[in-house]
Parts: sequence; C-alpha cells; structure tokens
Amino acid sequence: MAVQALASVDALGGDTGSKQLVYRGRALHMESVCINRIAAAVPTPFYCYSSDAIRAAYLSLSAALKPIGASVCFAVKANGNLSVLGVLSALGSGMDIVSGGELKRAVSAGVPASKIIFSGVGKKRSEISSALEVGIHQINIESEAELEAVVEAAGALGVRAAIALRVNPDVDAGTHAKISTGKKHDKFGIPFEDIPALYAKALAAPELDPVGLAVHIGSQIVDLSPYRSAYSGIADLVRLLRSRGMPVRRLDLGGGIGIPYDHGSSPDLGEYATIVRETVGGLDCELTVEPGRWLVGPAGILVTEVLYIKETADRLTAIVDAGMNDLMRPAMYGAVHPVLPLKHVRQGSHTYQIAGPVCESSDIFGTYGNLAPLQSGDRLAFGYAGAYGASMASTYNARDLAAEVLVDGDRFRVVRRRQTTEDLLTLEEETEWQWSVGSGRA
Ligand code: LLP
Repeated sequence: MAVQALASVDALGGDTGSKQLVYRGRALHMESVCINRIAAAVPTPFYCYSSDAIRAAYLSLSAALKPIGASVCFAVKANGNLSVLGVLSALGSGMDIVSGGELKRAVSAGVPASKIIFSGVGKKRSEISSALEVGIHQINIESEAELEAVVEAAGALGVRAAIALRVNPDVDAGTHAKISTGKKHDKFGIPFEDIPALYAKALAAPELDPVGLAVHIGSQIVDLSPYRSAYSGIADLVRLLRSRGMPVRRLDLGGGIGIPYDHGSSPDLGEYATIVRETVGGLDCELTVEPGRWLVGPAGILVTEVLYIKETADRLTAIVDAGMNDLMRPAMYGAVHPVLPLKHVRQGSHTYQIAGPVCESSDIFGTYGNLAPLQSGDRLAFGYAGAYGASMASTYNARDLAAEVLVDGDRFRVVRRRQTTEDLLTLEEETEWQWSVGSGRA
C-alpha cells in the first residue's frame, strides 16, 4: 500500500473553494469551530460537515454552469442527511434520487417535486408510483421493462409521466472499475442503438411524456475527456431522433466530477462547462447535471480517536475507533482519504498503518507517512469524507451508525444523533417457536 504523506490544509481546500478546514494555532478548525470542542461533546467516530463549504461548492458550480443555462440536481446518494440536503435546497438545488427512501428525504428537506429526478436501474413499482403521486419532474428509464412498469403505474394513477431514456454511450470514464457506469457491459442505461425504437414506443404511449435523454458515465472522473465523447454521442442521438420527427427537450448530463482525494488536481469546472457548451450547448435543450461527490465530498470529515498503538516487527499500526462500516471507501475501492491530526504538533517522520476495529483484514484506512508520534486518545480526521461516507455506512459488527454534525460559522449542531444498539434491537423480535428445539429454553 502506498505511503501517503500528511495532507496539507491546502490540499483539502483544493479548487472546490473548500477552505473551511484550517489549523488555528495547532488545533484543527472547521469554519470557526475547534473540532476538539465538538469531540468533547460528541463521542467519536462522527462525521462533521461545513455548511459554508457546501454552499461555496454549489455556488461555484452553478456560476460555471450559468452561461450554458444548466441546472443542478444534487445526487442524494452521496449524502442524504436532511440538513445537508437543506443547505443545498435553500440555494435552489434540485435533487437526483435513486430510491423511495431518497425521495422521502428530498421531500422532507423541502425540495419541490418539480425539482426531483428519479434515476437508478432498479426502481420498484411502488417507488415509481410514489414518485408519480408527488408529481416528480422526471423519471430516467433504464430498460424497456422499466418503461412498461412506468406506463402501468401512470395509467393506474391517471397521470402522464415525464420520462427520459438513460443512454449507455459505451464510453470508458477512466475511473475505478467499481464506479464506471457508461461502458457497454455495465448494467446501466440503454444501448445507443436501441434508443430510437424505444423513444418512438414511449411517444406512442399516452401515459408517457418522453422529454429527452439522460447519461451518466461514472464517478470520480478527473480527466474530463470521456465527457466529451459521451456528450458528443448524446448530441448525435438528439439530432437523429429529431430527424425522425421525435421531439427532445431535456438532457440530463449525469454527475461524476472528481475531487482530489490523494493530492491530485481537481477538474477544471470551466473546462467542463466548455465541453458541455461545445457538445450539447447548441441543441436548444434544458440541461441538468447531477453531481454528488463534488458538492459535498470536500466539505466533510470523519473524526476518530486512536484506541491503541500496536507495534510489530515491521510496522506501527494505529488502531482507531472508526471502521470500514463507518467509511467503506478504502476497503471497497482502495480509496485514500487524507488524515489530519486534530492537534497538529509538528510534521513528523513516523509512518503508521491506520486500521479500524472491524473483524476484516480489509478494515485498513491506509498507511500514512510524515506523522508525529501518535498515542492512545489522539484524535484524527479523515478528509474528503462528506460524500459516500455516512451514506454508505453499515452496522456490521453491531457497530452503531456514527453521529453527523453540521458546522455553520461559529455554531455546530448534531444533525443526526449516534444510533444506539437499542435502536437496532427494536427492529427485532423473538418468535415463540425459536427456542423449542434442543435449546433448553423450551
Ligand atoms: N447520477 C447518477 C445516475 C449516478 O449513478 C451517480 C453516482 C451520480 C449521479 C453522482 O455521481 P458523483 O457526482 O457523486 O460522482 N460509492 C462510490 C460512488 C458511486 C457513485 C454512484 N453513482 C464512491 O464512494 O466512490
């Protein structure tokens, strides 16, 4: 595993405008709040988000997209916390959802249904009906079978469903295999060549209002050229459909813009906007983008405490109280999240493997160099943890979901309390027959 140098504060800010994580004196602060002060009140591990960083990211993205008139629908899967959704919604963001649960979250956060797009490859019929009942802006269709399910649901409710067909453009997004979605053999989208016939079928269905096309080629994209290929293909498809008399009014361009986790550079938003303008900008379509990670990733940290230092012949391991159940990305994608001590003593020369307590060999955050000596009780923050951190957490090893804290200026608030084991146990019931065979409890 690569040795990761201690991330500098600048690296955490990157080009996203997220300069809200800074050392004042020797103490790590988020905006004006000392994170150790939060940790004194909230047991670790916990997630902590900067409202200001989320706002700054949204505003810079919408400013870059303004000249091309594209609107933003935040991909709720990146972070579905109601308060995070609330910060974005207050700025006018729409939402991209992939389940009935995310629909409820977006609606509860005050997002109007007219700004919600329903994506995802496996929508249940009940979820489709709920979306239509609230008057969702658009459903992105991923297969002919799903198109038929939407026809049925809309027919039963007596409504007309605005739908877009999600195209699989067969483009390699150049990202991790587990988060690539736009290649021919990925499960997502409808093959390019099948689109015209399906669009015609949708136009013929009175229950449907086919409004356009959608595409999403993958996530954590740092080289923007695959967007050009994908969007050029979409533009060709729009022209083809129109040449056959089929109207196309909207294009959903997906998400995927990457962030510089491991000191890489951040994609240039101006360049992204140029690609959009040069490929689909002249088609007279309403444009929407669906970023998740870019808006909230840099705004969040996961705060943890060192439990033990384990010294073996070949390495020093810091065992911390956050595990892969809290932040799954290192174990799942080999992702590297920079680590920042809450108290920055000095740049050191120690290298630590940082490991969680979960009973899996893959519960390792990484090997980090240039650290000052660590000891039990020291607190650390993993950076860039605002996206796909809390939203992917599990209760594996019967570990309770971590609390989430929102900072705004000099205030902080626990916006989701830590789960308790009792919360989980309330879902479970003993049956009257389970103890009857050979247990001695019968
Ligand atoms: N739209 C659709 C249809 C998507 O499937 C996704 C992400 C997005 C938008 C937002 O993509 P973003 O802008 O956040 O890259 N758990 C993985 C990422 C999975 C992304 C899935 N789809 C990770 O932690 O890296």
